[in-house]
Amino acid sequence: MNANFDLMHRCELVEVAQVAQGWFRLKLYAPPLTGAEPGQFIHLRAGIATDPLLRRPFSIHYVDQKAGEIWLLIRVVGSATFALSRLRPGACLDLLGPLGNTFPALEETAAPVLAAGGIGLAPLYFLARRRLEAGLAFDLLLGGAEGSSLPGDNFFDRVGLKPLLATEDGSRGFRGTVVDLLKQHLESGEKPARIHACGPLPMLARIVELGKAHAVPVHVSLESLMACAVGACLGCAFPFKINGKLEYRPVCRDGPVFNGEEADFNYV
Ligand SMILES: Cc1cc2nc3c(=O)[nH]c(=O)nc-3n(C[C@H](O)[C@H](O)[C@H](O)COP(=O)(O)OP(=O)(O)OC[C@H]3O[C@@H](n4cnc5c(N)ncnc54)[C@H](O)[C@@H]3O)c2cc1C
Ligand code: FES
Repeated sequence: MNANFDLMHRCELVEVAQVAQGWFRLKLYAPPLTGAEPGQFIHLRAGIATDPLLRRPFSIHYVDQKAGEIWLLIRVVGSATFALSRLRPGACLDLLGPLGNTFPALEETAAPVLAAGGIGLAPLYFLARRRLEAGLAFDLLLGGAEGSSLPGDNFFDRVGLKPLLATEDGSRGFRGTVVDLLKQHLESGEKPARIHACGPLPMLARIVELGKAHAVPVHVSLESLMACAVGACLGCAFPFKINGKLEYRPVCRDGPVFNGEEADFNYV
């Protein structure tokens, strides 16, 4: 496979801000990436030394075309995300992107539901803001274990987003999971055009079941562990049932957004 040099970029970090417990928003000056669409991701080197050796994939959280910036939203879970959270403005980051496909029907007039579990908010925030800026309706649902594990109200208010929150301890919004909240939303009689979901696999599996029960198509953004991110190593392959046949597809090349009904969560 030939390297695609158009996808290789070095970008300056403009801002790092903590937005919730263990969550950081990074703004990168990256004019060549400002054509990216909701759902796409970048593959980023988090350090110059050997730890972490491999790049890590991160969703494009927002594109600020005027400022020439792309934004990332990261939750610290290991060495790469910790290193990124400690960077200061002026740092230079090496990344590949934009990669992957986008959420379907970006400009559809009928309102979708965007269902995010925790840091699964990263790509859905971009989709929500894109629809908001285009004057298109949608509902954004966001779930977390507790209120402090999610960004504060100001994070959403300042850009005009009004998410429906679900927390398992009931400290903010609905008491329960985002799946429980989605179930209530669907049972209230409103039928969304589709559901876009991103979050942990058990959450996605349950949302696909809910979508089937209510005859609403579900699109899931999958977060496999990745090595090459360009379809060469098959390290990110995920199982799908297509026409009754089991098939493994690379999430980086064919996704990360897939038809939820085809994803085979039983095999993971
Ligand atoms: C397309 C895509 C988009 C992503 N977007 C974001 C994003 O916007 N923000 C964000 O914070 N993260 C995102 N991720 C996940 C992120 O790439 C991983 O969590 C990454 O491994 C973190 O690197 P680390 O070195 O900090 O942690 P690691 O040392 O790599 O991992 C720490 C621990 O988390 C576990 N882990 C890592 N990744 C996953 C995963 N995907 N599912 C389950 N367990 C995992 C590891 O097994 C390990 O136990 C995305 C992943 C994909 C594939
Ligand atoms: S990470 Fe190598 S094929 Fe997807």
